[in-house]
Amino acid sequence: MILLFGFGGVGRTYAELLYERTGLRLCAVFDSGGGVAKKDGFASDEVKQLLKIPRGAAAKSGVGRAATLDEALDICQVVVDVSPPNYETAEPALSLYRRALSRGLAVVTANKAPLALAFRELAHRRLYYKATVMAGTPLVDLLMGLPPQKALRVRGILNGSTNYVMTRVYKDGVPFEKAVEEAKELGILEPDPRLDLEGLDPAAKLVIIANTLGAPFALRDVVRRPLAPLGPVTRYLATLDLEAGRASVEPVRLAPDDPIHVDYTMNAVEIVTEVNNILVKGKGAGRRETALVLLNDTLKALRG
Ligand code: HSE
Repeated sequence: MILLFGFGGVGRTYAELLYERTGLRLCAVFDSGGGVAKKDGFASDEVKQLLKIPRGAAAKSGVGRAATLDEALDICQVVVDVSPPNYETAEPALSLYRRALSRGLAVVTANKAPLALAFRELAHRRLYYKATVMAGTPLVDLLMGLPPQKALRVRGILNGSTNYVMTRVYKDGVPFEKAVEEAKELGILEPDPRLDLEGLDPAAKLVIIANTLGAPFALRDVVRRPLAPLGPVTRYLATLDLEAGRASVEPVRLAPDDPIHVDYTMNAVEIVTEVNNILVKGKGAGRRETALVLLNDTLKALRG
């Protein structure tokens, strides 16, 4: 049974898909206002009721009973974290992971901040984080399949919302501010849009990629410049040079035929290894895309 930590767009889509596609149940749902739990798991009708409540009101929903996180951890096997990232302290998610992992529970997450700030501490076989990078596209699985093959460089478009904005500006002629508004309406910008527009989101993804490849980069190691429309075809490029120990996120003008030139919410990553040059393209943002990857990780976590 699943403890869902965060009940916004991705969390609600995850809850719907969990009941539609698996025989699994939620045993607890937490949002910014607290949480509710039920020992035998919520029935499908109860989840439908929860889906109707306003954000932040789970504890007052009257579904199940109001519970503390510790009570919920006692009755669940997997914690699924879809709470917003906090790049200052990674809280409250980081403390929750520590408590869950020390009790032998698995953690599945779409929240980049705990990994970006404490990857080494959390690198643990019971932590599943495929949804943190490229949303619907299983790049993390691919990276885990490389060792002992050495990766030398990674170059990528890792932020779906800014890629959408740049595509609207340079392909469709939409003003920058209007394109940002559209990305907000689509729900692909972070709740704090500066995380996308100033590059903290793609920098966190780059740190997760580097650490997955065994290179202990920290968020402060990534040189960041804010997104700026520099002319066609501007893209917000994340670059990792594992040999030189350098990482950056900055707007650059790509050649139109650059293999990582993708449009709208697509992401693209090129991984240069000692023997190969691998190109991965796929959607990098979206509620359903992220929720489906979280489900895949949940099923993996339950298989152990
Ligand atoms: N704000 C993120 C992006 C969402 O635009 O890529 C997915 O991580």
